[in-house]
Amino acid sequence: MYTPFKHEPFTDFTVEENKKAFEAALEHVKGELNKDHDLLVNGEHIQTEDKIVSINPANKEEVVGRVSKANQEIAEEAMQAAVTSFEDWRKWSPEARAGVFFRAAAKIRRRKHEFSAYLVYEVGKPWKEADADTAEAIDFLEYYARQMIELGEGKHVESREGEQNRYIYQPTGVAVVIPPWNLAFAIMAGTTVAPLVTGNTVLLKPASNSPVIASKFVEVLEDSGLPKGVLNFVPGSGKEVGDYLVDHPKTALISFTGSRDVGTRIIERASKVQPGQTHLKQVIAEMGGKDTVVVDSSADIDTAVDAIVVSAFGFSGQKCSSGSRAVVHEDVYDEVLERVAKVTSELSVGNASESNVYMGPVVDQAAYDKIMGYMEVGKEEGRLVVGGTGDDSKGFFIQPTVFADLDPKSRMQQEEIFGPVVCFTKAKDFDEAIEIANNTEYGLTGAVITEDRQHIERAARDFHVGNLYFNRNCTGAIVGYQPFGGFKMSGTDSKAGGPDYLALHMQAKTISEML
Ligand code: SER
Repeated sequence: MYTPFKHEPFTDFTVEENKKAFEAALEHVKGELNKDHDLLVNGEHIQTEDKIVSINPANKEEVVGRVSKANQEIAEEAMQAAVTSFEDWRKWSPEARAGVFFRAAAKIRRRKHEFSAYLVYEVGKPWKEADADTAEAIDFLEYYARQMIELGEGKHVESREGEQNRYIYQPTGVAVVIPPWNLAFAIMAGTTVAPLVTGNTVLLKPASNSPVIASKFVEVLEDSGLPKGVLNFVPGSGKEVGDYLVDHPKTALISFTGSRDVGTRIIERASKVQPGQTHLKQVIAEMGGKDTVVVDSSADIDTAVDAIVVSAFGFSGQKCSSGSRAVVHEDVYDEVLERVAKVTSELSVGNASESNVYMGPVVDQAAYDKIMGYMEVGKEEGRLVVGGTGDDSKGFFIQPTVFADLDPKSRMQQEEIFGPVVCFTKAKDFDEAIEIANNTEYGLTGAVITEDRQHIERAARDFHVGNLYFNRNCTGAIVGYQPFGGFKMSGTDSKAGGPDYLALHMQAKTISEML
């Protein structure tokens, strides 16, 4: 029936034809910028006076789009639409629901570079990162749709003689989806599709830095046959619209990805039972990381250097999975540091809508100011080896930065900076390296570079992170291959793109009949 799931391949931009195709997409999308984008409530397109103005972080003068902004009144209309349409959507067969998302995946695949180009303009992604983000969005659509078909019959339970037992999954109700701006397409699409394909209805409140790509995605879902009211698009402020929807008595499920502070606040608010509420709200919260690349004395040095650089500077270090800490065995510390510093100083930084640079800007002024503030902390706590400077005159550009000799408990090694900064700490042996790697409140990703089999086993057991990688970087989990989610204050370990994810959006029901 359906072919087995295989992840969407990445584009090789060293092939001239691919480079040309991507440049053409950038040119095409340039002509689409600075347009108005609507809200979608109960199948109606709505424009409001109040707009979120999305700009290109690589060029502050360039408006990517103006997106209408919902208020509480519109959010309430959207909620009523979601409540009403749930009654029909929940009864669709898993195959029929999945069909909508297979169609959407096919449409996006055909316009792949166009979507990636939006990511270049809207969040400043370099080509490679934009391409991976779009591929992951397609993967989420394909993977969750396939998985829903498998779950459609429920799971096997035993029956005794004279009885028949069934174990099936049912949708939960109205889901409020609040995605981040960093995996602006992939996580937004994945966290929207999972509740939808399982039969819930959705209120999608995109991140204010990336509402245009979300609006383009909503268009595709509309064109793919999603009935009215099933998905409602309600961009707006967290304080006004976000809190209203989180608190709403009809909200059944909240799927949030973002900072630790906002995530814990949502969990707290969602736990309060509101007047008229007749169920407990479920919360999926994927939050921050302070992720470590551990380098053992036996490590292959080329692998270690590559793992540290890719983990730290991919998308300017703005991933919850970014490796912002390098904990290196004292035997190889100087060599690894020197080689990382050299590679880092040669990375190209610039506007990816103009050329295929390694690193673009950081996302906005607030991020720029925060990261530049940490440069001062780093100089006090450690030794600046390379980078440390920024320029926000045209866009929010920060040079990739390496600090050395940090105390494991220093602010630089404990706080999530979310920028292109990696801090080195020396460990006297492998045990101490793992102890340091575990010493933050987060537990999302980690990498260990080692040739020692016993150390691999020890780290697999003792390095307490949701996604652990050996002899590679600690970013870029693939849907269906490396289910993603973290421990400790990194979140609820939902494992997006994994076999258990959809079940979090449903309620299991046991049905037992006497024959
Ligand atoms: N899933 C992404 C990664 O693995 C982060 O959100 O890098």
